[in-house]
Amino acid sequence: MCGIMGYTGKKNSIPIVINGLKSLEYRGYDSAGIAYIYKNDIKIIKEKGRISNLENELEGDSSNTCIGHTRWATHGEPSRINAHPHKVGNITIVHNGIIENYNELKNKLIKEGYKFKSETDTEVACAIIDYYYKKLNDKIKVIEKLKDVLKGSYAFLILFQGDDKIYATKCGSPMIVASSMNGNFIASDIPAILSYTKEYFLLDEHDIAILDKDFIKFIKDGKEIKKEKLIFQFDTEVASKGGYKHFMLKEIHEEPKVVKDYLDYYFENFDLIPDISKYRKIQIVACGSAYHAGLIGKFLIEKYGSIEVNCYIASEYRYQLNFIDKNTLVILVSQSGETADTIASLRLAKKNKAKTLGIVNVVGSTIARECDSVIYINAGAEIAVATTKAYVNQVLTFSLIAYKLGLKNKLLTEDIKKEYYKLPNEISKMLKLDYHKLALKISKQNNVFFIGRLIDYYLCLEGSLKLKEISYIHSETYPAGELKHGTISLIDSGTIVISIVTDENISEKTVSNIKETKARGAYVILLKRDDIIVDETCYDEIIDIEKMSDLAMAILTIVPLQLLAYYVSDVKGLDIDKPKNLAKSVTVE
Ligand code: G6P
Repeated sequence: MCGIMGYTGKKNSIPIVINGLKSLEYRGYDSAGIAYIYKNDIKIIKEKGRISNLENELEGDSSNTCIGHTRWATHGEPSRINAHPHKVGNITIVHNGIIENYNELKNKLIKEGYKFKSETDTEVACAIIDYYYKKLNDKIKVIEKLKDVLKGSYAFLILFQGDDKIYATKCGSPMIVASSMNGNFIASDIPAILSYTKEYFLLDEHDIAILDKDFIKFIKDGKEIKKEKLIFQFDTEVASKGGYKHFMLKEIHEEPKVVKDYLDYYFENFDLIPDISKYRKIQIVACGSAYHAGLIGKFLIEKYGSIEVNCYIASEYRYQLNFIDKNTLVILVSQSGETADTIASLRLAKKNKAKTLGIVNVVGSTIARECDSVIYINAGAEIAVATTKAYVNQVLTFSLIAYKLGLKNKLLTEDIKKEYYKLPNEISKMLKLDYHKLALKISKQNNVFFIGRLIDYYLCLEGSLKLKEISYIHSETYPAGELKHGTISLIDSGTIVISIVTDENISEKTVSNIKETKARGAYVILLKRDDIIVDETCYDEIIDIEKMSDLAMAILTIVPLQLLAYYVSDVKGLDIDKPKNLAKSVTVE
């Protein structure tokens, strides 16, 4: 959360940092600011709201060194005062993360005579750096001291008064460094540098980077170190909408290709899909949509592997009793590979000697690096805050793990491969359906219900999350059989109930539950596997989905729900790619 960007070099750094920040806006967008070196001093400009608001405040200056920040508020409301950069004494910083012991440090600093203008933890971190800089008078020693003084997570860019270099360090929040003929860059994520270079260095925990106009230096434990140069594999096209109205729509339309490329690659390199049959206990840990993908993973692994699987929300898992031992496999699912709670769960699992497997999109991210092994989902960069194509490839990954188990257990034959290869075409068919009429109807609602059983329930959870996160319509998801234990009292004349029926073993049961809602006046939208016969009186609108093996069905069925959520939000004229209060990469607890 929060995007940071810095540049020092021959060019005017201000537009470079502003453009970099725009590509990081998915990390937070409630206020933004920059600090640049101007006439031997540091000038700070910040503004509440989007980066476009900040641009209106710019004064046309030129500078060779600039740092910037786009904020997702944690401590203190979105406001100009709380926006970064913060300056205390000789120090100016931008920060991504949370300093957990900031109150204690603040009280100590107040006794030392420091005064604070904002409510942020960042201003306290800035004052701490100033305090130790005055004591130690050595920039590197001060930055190294931070790991003993600060509790929590951080990625900092630091400007020292009178020095035109950018200093940086990180703990628990990502940071990449890159160089070009014309200068050096540092940022929270790769999109910020993609217009200049595809090569970058990744900072590890407590590394220090020093960026000068002409060189980059990395320091660890007081000594200069060399770092491996990495290459971003994907197309630079990712940074543009490619003619689509929103990144979300573009990313949904990429699904046929992303799925096909994934299948080609992993069927060619099938050894990369691990055989997990030796584990007797499997735990899947994730947040948000990745958790929903994990639930589908649970269903498929249990069915084809006969192994008990439990699925946990990472923010709970890290604090609950969990019976991990060296025979447990813990699977961490994360698009970004940087979600704070998922990282903490991974470290807990490793501490308890479990084997860990990451299912990750971002190459070289913390989870990818720290897990014992990793499967990259190869979905390409995802810019829209609401995940779509990455979720699809997370589910596909679980599906291939289950497929491998099914082959081993002789429950499946290689014939199923044909089913997988039908997916790109079937997804394309879903993309072509007209969702406008339904979207208009849903857009007028305050509440929507999603019901399904087992795998259909897990799909409902994701469909419902998509709808609420981007359209701001409240939706409630229930296992179909559970509805009558309370929530059915909220179903009234015209209430929209969206139901999924793709599992023939329980379709009749779900249909009975749908009828219970119909009897109370519900307007039912049914997503149904096309061969399952249901009585026409049980729905008002129907979307038929091609019959496939459940290994592929789950991937196909989510597509109409992603599109429905998209079009509802579009009808309402909302900011689809950047829904309010959300961020794509949640690097705080
Ligand atoms: C945020 C995003 C979700 C995502 C979740 C987990 O809430 O908005 O789309 O599913 O984080 O993120 P991860 O990067 O760990 O998959």
